[in-house]
Amino acid sequence: MRMEIEIGLPGQTHADALALPVALPLDGFGGDGARIVDDKLRSRLTALAASGELRGDRGETLLLHVDGELQAPRVVAAGIGQRAEVDLDALRTAAAATAQALDRIGGTVCWLLDETLPLSLPDQARALVEGTIIGGYAPGRWKTGDDAPHPIERIVLGHVETPELRAAAERAALVAERTNRARDLANLPPNELDPQALAEHALALAAEHEHLTATSLGPDALDELGMGALAAVGRGSRREPRLIVLRYDPPQATRQDVLLGLVGKSITFDSGGLSLKPAAHMEDMKGDMAGGAGTLHGIGAVAALGIPVRAVAVLAAAENMPGGDSFRPGDILRAANGKTIEIINTDAEGRLVLADALWYARREGATHVLDVATLTGAMELALGDLYAGLFANDDAWRDRILAAAARSGDLAWPFPLHPRYRRYVDSTYADMKNASLLRQGSPVLAAKFLEEFSGEGAWAHIDMAGPGFLERSRDDYYRVAGGTGYGVRLIAELAESFA
Ligand code: BES
Ligand code: MN
Ligand code: ZN
Repeated sequence: MRMEIEIGLPGQTHADALALPVALPLDGFGGDGARIVDDKLRSRLTALAASGELRGDRGETLLLHVDGELQAPRVVAAGIGQRAEVDLDALRTAAAATAQALDRIGGTVCWLLDETLPLSLPDQARALVEGTIIGGYAPGRWKTGDDAPHPIERIVLGHVETPELRAAAERAALVAERTNRARDLANLPPNELDPQALAEHALALAAEHEHLTATSLGPDALDELGMGALAAVGRGSRREPRLIVLRYDPPQATRQDVLLGLVGKSITFDSGGLSLKPAAHMEDMKGDMAGGAGTLHGIGAVAALGIPVRAVAVLAAAENMPGGDSFRPGDILRAANGKTIEIINTDAEGRLVLADALWYARREGATHVLDVATLTGAMELALGDLYAGLFANDDAWRDRILAAAARSGDLAWPFPLHPRYRRYVDSTYADMKNASLLRQGSPVLAAKFLEEFSGEGAWAHIDMAGPGFLERSRDDYYRVAGGTGYGVRLIAELAESFA
């Protein structure tokens, strides 16, 4: 469903709720708009602030019913924290909290923009739209009761319309909707989403966009390409593996020397294979294709926005299962780039499927490669559910990704790739091994493994095991557990940085 965006002075259009950002300290209400609302309400907001009922804490909301004084029957005062510290996240969080406070009402919410905040008006528009759409996401589509939430369908930005505001709001709506589509994919249960179904999603997405094409390669094609690593991971399941490739070729690319290569880990279910995982939380391993979902809808967003940068997305899709034909610890595989891999642990499958996908992205001519993967549990232990770890072989590429990450809200933090870490994957029998019994630096080990397949040129790896799929609400604008769509916003921002 498409969110409708309107820009205009509040009072010119009906809304189901009028929302205003409230910053700390609570002296006055910042912008002119909020002061006018307070006047019309005969200083009720001032009185509520004085009594302590209305607070400006980030993410807190107060819902008031009003009686004809305004063009809306409700007012939501939404806290955004200390005025001097207000950033995009503060407004995203306020918008999400407001969407949740209104989830029995839905309809139209009108946000008052505030010129006195330390954020430009287009940035305010962007954050409020993103927060409303991401924060309004409801993951319970398999529930059969009739108490489905009422989504917000229209956002009015209370300000005179300018082209900058319009562009910022429309872009934010598009990217946030794509983010939610990536969340839908990650939340699909593994009985409904296997590699073949994911490939069908990719083909359907490509059909939506003029300059986006998709293809999907099955077991025979993988064998022909020599993709022994991806093929091995997929062998234990009756649901065959797929290499899914999307190409975005805009008519007037500004930089013919850039082909952005996006590689996504797309394990539709990770049981661990013969190195079986324990039962607790195994259900969350339906989200082990979240990296692929982020790259799929990331390139989709780039195409929908018409960003003039060429891109290719490569999704390595497989189901990692124990079975009569599973690959085994002790097996030695040959990847598409000719290197051999000794298998120590079949649960270290993500790096195997990525190995062949990285090679393919380079073969397609990618100049700047970024892979996105729920790769290691230790990354989540280290950084929790907020930041992903970023590894790169090129400083400029790493810095460009870090900047895009910070601005997009898909946060990333740099980790080292020192050459001496290479001994972690040294194998007695083969070029390398896929895991080690040594309980040290497992995210770095995985990154060093991937580096062996990154080919010539700039490459980076994002391990988003923490922020890619949440075990519980993050208490910001991600209000619910499950897929986050990590990568979609980052990829849109990253592509724009080349435009
Ligand atoms: N998909 C998992 C990583 C993961 C764990 C993501 C928890 C999100 C939450 C990955 O395939 C995996 O199993 N990694 C192992 C590697 C180990 C066997 C070397 C891990 O990190 O434990
Ligand atoms: Mn695994
Ligand atoms: Zn996995």
